[in-house]
Amino acid sequence: MLTLDEADKLLMIPGPTPVQREILTAIAEPTISHTSRPMADIVERCLEGLRAIAQTERGRVFVFGGSGTLAQEAAVVNLVAPGERLLVVSNGFFGDRFVPIAEAHGITVERLAASWGESVTGEQLEERLAAGKVRAVALTHVDTSTGVCAPVRELAGIARRRGALVIVDAVCSFGGAPLAMDEWGIDVVLTGAQKALGVPPGLTILAVSEEAWQRRRALPRVTSYYADLLNWEASMADPQVYFSTHAVNLFYALRAAIEIILGEGLNERYDRHERLARGFRAGAEAIGLSSLTGWRYLAPTMSVLAYPTDVPDERFRSELGRRGVVAAGCLGEFKGRGVRFGHMGNIDQAEIVQTIAAIEDTLLALGRDIEPGAGLAAAQRAMSRSAVAG
Ligand SMILES: Cc1ncc(COP(=O)(O)O)c(C=O)c1O
Repeated sequence: MLTLDEADKLLMIPGPTPVQREILTAIAEPTISHTSRPMADIVERCLEGLRAIAQTERGRVFVFGGSGTLAQEAAVVNLVAPGERLLVVSNGFFGDRFVPIAEAHGITVERLAASWGESVTGEQLEERLAAGKVRAVALTHVDTSTGVCAPVRELAGIARRRGALVIVDAVCSFGGAPLAMDEWGIDVVLTGAQKALGVPPGLTILAVSEEAWQRRRALPRVTSYYADLLNWEASMADPQVYFSTHAVNLFYALRAAIEIILGEGLNERYDRHERLARGFRAGAEAIGLSSLTGWRYLAPTMSVLAYPTDVPDERFRSELGRRGVVAAGCLGEFKGRGVRFGHMGNIDQAEIVQTIAAIEDTLLALGRDIEPGAGLAAAQRAMSRSAVAG
């Protein structure tokens, strides 16, 4: 078998995702002054586009160099003061990450966690919040470790009614799964660039409600300088104002990505994600790889699949890689038991077909007794059926 260059493989991990050529070439444009008028126009277009994707009229949007973890930290420190209580609703590894982040800033953390593959329910949240008031609740829309898509609309509504501010980590959903910040009563939506937005890694993105902004203003100080959103306020209102150098070329990429997303249309994009997810899982299931995620909570952006008993994790992924597809190992309780695939951002049916074909070929190479083509047939049937169904 020919040895493939890593850059020629199809990146089907749950982020970073494959980057469209027009986004990549945008990055290669000459770097301009971070405080120039043309740069400010680009930043403003990005902020406006992100507001549209977050579905917020009044939300303030912040974008700066960083990652999803920095966005989690920024959300926490701007809303919750040291000594106050944060309730972390966790559906896996990334939900849990809010705990050390908050503790590093002297915040008192309570954790309400689901078993792996399931989600904390509205009832459980209601019960916990009835037992004592918290300043904020941190939710994860899609936890990338378990593939669980939480019922965020319901959970956010409950938290809000109990007087808590609502933080939603949308790193693995933003731009790929429906999320309506204003309508659902979310105070902070946070994400990075590298997943369903389809941009290379390197940006921290937050949308902040008016209530959350008033809260930040009421805090005498926060325990961060770079992540203090008040320090970014003037620069986001007028991007020619300097606070810290804009990530110039990544903004070029983000603008190109936003044009693709809004050009496709949000609802069309969400439908495409649903259809690809259904096709991918139908194909995988037909060749013996079922979801580790509970059926109620399957995410449109990614899947976590269980291995049949005699399939060794590292061998499977390295053989799959030799066949041109990159998948991710599992984390935490699922480590070694399954494999994670992303199907989000700017991919389409062709990439799903390629991935299922590579999985089939890998399983055959590992000696599994599967019917060649069974996965492909199931995937294609599911995708064309849901396309007709609309
Ligand atoms: C749901 C979720 N939250 C937070 C993060 C952390 O983001 P980053 O790796 O960009 O710091 C990730 C990363 O995969 C994630 O999937």
